[in-house]
Amino acid sequence: MTSSTKFFMKTTQLILLMLALSALASCTCCDREERQAKARERQGIIMANVVVEEPLSAGAQLYRDKTCNTCHGDDGIKSLLPNYPIIAQQGEEYALQQMLDIKSGNRAAGQSAAMKPIVQSVTDEEFAILAQFIATELGQGKAIGSGNPDPASPGGKLFKSKTCVACHGKDGKTPVLKAYPKIAGLSAEYAKMQMLDIKNGARANSQAVLGMKGIMHLVSEEEINHLADYIATLPR
Ligand code: HEC
Ligand code: HEC
Repeated sequence: MTSSTKFFMKTTQLILLMLALSALASCTCCDREERQAKARERQGIIMANVVVEEPLSAGAQLYRDKTCNTCHGDDGIKSLLPNYPIIAQQGEEYALQQMLDIKSGNRAAGQSAAMKPIVQSVTDEEFAILAQFIATELGQGKAIGSGNPDPASPGGKLFKSKTCVACHGKDGKTPVLKAYPKIAGLSAEYAKMQMLDIKNGARANSQAVLGMKGIMHLVSEEEINHLADYIATLPR
């Protein structure tokens, strides 16, 4: 074979190879287009017939199934009655202990009787899931507290002078211990009721609360009203 014949044959092989490759490429290309069209079609059918809903987390599902939302609101903020607590973004450890105490009857003051029968069927494991959900998911990103707290207001001054800050934090949401509540943003009605119950001893479900009771005898009912108004303005 002459070298020019060899060259000719090599070139022909190369061209054939390229043709085969391009045919293959265009083929997979139409396949892909066809598949995409089919997928779009299927999606269209799904979109047309079903309301696509995000699956709920285990905690969110329990919160609904156990009807917690009927009293505490879908977001844990808009509660059924003003003297029911805002529970969204409450500390996990505190929330868990309170739920257990309400179930057992250890915490029986205020409006606890409303919640007690509802939670008799809730297990310890479910409470743990709910507490984590309350702390990390419920009402996340939503504003809690009416805002514009005024430290120079009567309530603002008392919050400091009556040493509330020592346990609940300057901002009312950084308690010294995880077992202590975040009180920032609670409704004035609920906060007032709890302070009165702690002062008169009706709410005595923990050793810790006895620490607060110790200072509440130095706080008058009028001062409690001012403190409650101030707490309601603090952002949580
Ligand atoms: C029938 C109404 C009702 C239902 C249903 C209910 N709660 Fe409550 N819950 C209350 C009331 C009222 C209180 C406050 C009791 C008091 O006055 O001391 C409370 C207190 C709490 C607290 C403590 C709040 C705090 O700041 O101390 C948590 C946490 C809580 N509930 C979570 C739940 C969860 C989770 C569910 C569902 C398993 C639930 N609740 C179902 C009415 C209800
Ligand atoms: C020695 C620590 C301590 C001090 C000081 C203290 N508290 Fe408390 N407070 C607690 C603890 C602990 C609880 C929760 C009790 C429990 O575990 O049931 C609580 C509960 C509350 C609650 C109810 C929270 C809820 O979600 O139910 C309010 C409102 C409150 N405190 C306001 C105040 C105010 C206002 C002051 C100052 C006058 C104050 N506290 C001083 C420890 C303290």
